[in-house]
Amino acid sequence: MLLHSSFAQILFVNNLAQGKYSDRQCNFEAASTFFEPPIESPPAMTSIEAWYMGNNVVDQTAENRMDPNEPVTISDLRDLGVIHWHLPPVEDYPAKAVPWEPKNGIQDKQLAAIRDSRGYNYADIITCSEECLPDYHNKLKAFFEEHIHSDEEVRYILKGSGYFDVRDLKDRWIRIRLSAGDLIVLPEGIYHRFTMDTKNFTHAMRLFKGVPVWTPINRPADTHPSRERYLQRFQPEERSSTWSIVSCFRGLAQGWQKLGN
Ligand SMILES: [Fe+2]
Repeated sequence: MLLHSSFAQILFVNNLAQGKYSDRQCNFEAASTFFEPPIESPPAMTSIEAWYMGNNVVDQTAENRMDPNEPVTISDLRDLGVIHWHLPPVEDYPAKAVPWEPKNGIQDKQLAAIRDSRGYNYADIITCSEECLPDYHNKLKAFFEEHIHSDEEVRYILKGSGYFDVRDLKDRWIRIRLSAGDLIVLPEGIYHRFTMDTKNFTHAMRLFKGVPVWTPINRPADTHPSRERYLQRFQPEERSSTWSIVSCFRGLAQGWQKLGN
């Protein structure tokens, strides 16, 4: 639920209005002149990398790779419904803009084409860092709660970096590293979570179809319609096998019932 909390945003705005954050850290208006991540971002041509991780996580911001490393390919991610583009941002975006209206701002044709083709008609821009997000460390823990959504989760990383973790179809965690220029779509119903990395800085655009709903549905959510839809889309064979077994048992039970009558 990367930065889903509108409450946090409200707090941020209020605190900013009260002068609790310096202009250098989180100023909306002068963003382009000061707005740099604390540690240099990877080169623009880098793309996402993904790998399996264990269940026992001591430090959620660490890489948490298996030993030896078990890489996951873009194709593997696509099989789970995870889609990715790499679009180096064309300009400096503001530190925060809720909502973000591209008609009045930066014209990014590649991004616009994706927005149009997939129907993302809402966007906003947020910054997650210790300076810009009140109660930062507790928020970090909240982001890391496993959950699903009843819509796609779409994030475009403008600066900084972070990790999305998604479950594969055998319920193993895959860690996906995102950095500036990575645009990712998590499908409706996939179990996932987000964390900052050790750099503690993410500047991202959130995209949505229609009126945004940021509310996470925490696990267990196996009977939620969005989860069922996800399994039907991406686990059709196992799903149909399960339903066949269930139907078989139902048939047997009905048969015994008739014999008993
Ligand atoms: Fe989420």
